[in-house]
Amino acid sequence: MSAPLLDVSGLAAGYGDLTVLAEVDLQVRAGEIVALIGSNGAGKSTLLRALSGLVSPTAGGIRLDGADVRAAASRDLVGLGLVHVPEGRRLFASLSIADNLRLGAYARRDGRAAIARDVARMYELFPRLAERRRQDASTLSGGEQQMCAIARGLMARPRLLMIDELSLGLAPNVVEDLVETLRRVNGEGLSLLLVEQDVVTALELSSRAYVLDQGRIVLHGASVDLARDPSVRKAYLGDLTGAAA
Ligand SMILES: Nc1ncnc2c1ncn2[C@@H]1O[C@H](COP(=O)(O)OP(=O)(O)OP(=O)(O)O)[C@@H](O)[C@H]1O
Ligand SMILES: [Mg+2]
Repeated sequence: MSAPLLDVSGLAAGYGDLTVLAEVDLQVRAGEIVALIGSNGAGKSTLLRALSGLVSPTAGGIRLDGADVRAAASRDLVGLGLVHVPEGRRLFASLSIADNLRLGAYARRDGRAAIARDVARMYELFPRLAERRRQDASTLSGGEQQMCAIARGLMARPRLLMIDELSLGLAPNVVEDLVETLRRVNGEGLSLLLVEQDVVTALELSSRAYVLDQGRIVLHGASVDLARDPSVRKAYLGDLTGAAA
């Protein structure tokens, strides 16, 4: 069997003396949608930061397509196709949507024409961005900001896109549209690692999921199985087991 696209083994990371993650094992295979769930402070964002070179791991390995990338710099990881849409979206507030999208392509070497084609493709994927292309990112609604952040991530031509808090603060119809768009790009071959507070959405969208608790993976498996797992239902789905019985 071929190597997973992303292979994380025994990963530890934290901030200064604070160890947040320990012994994290996680894989994403090419073409998969994988969800990472866990309560506030579990270390989900820290894990995405460690994978994208923003936090240095203190132990363990990170392999991308079999190559050791644990020590790689953030910029190089983007060039290798590992792209992170951070919590809070982090757009360039005083720049237009169009400029934010072009900046997403900063690590690419394939020239202006290809980048322009991909910007046009983003407007096709996210029509609301097309209508507002000259508008400053600071003036966008929360949903539009998330579309812009995802589109900016896609402009890097990722092989694996990691999205932190996909649906946070967004209306259900906006989340539905985003989910639809992510299914579409996944259907075209993009792998996804999603951190998501809304566990129902996370488990519906993904084929496999990992549960992180206090910096450790405590459960992982097929999303359909996790959705039925009593401990997941109790901890993350408001204990619906009694109601369903
Ligand atoms: N820059 C930082 N410096 C020090 N500690 C941090 C830093 N960022 C996060 N932490 C700590 O690391 C732990 C994990 O935080 P992290 O943000 O990874 O959790 P999370 O699972 O993403 O939570 P949430 O669901 O609230 O986003 C927390 O105890 C947090 O206080
Ligand atoms: Mg977080």
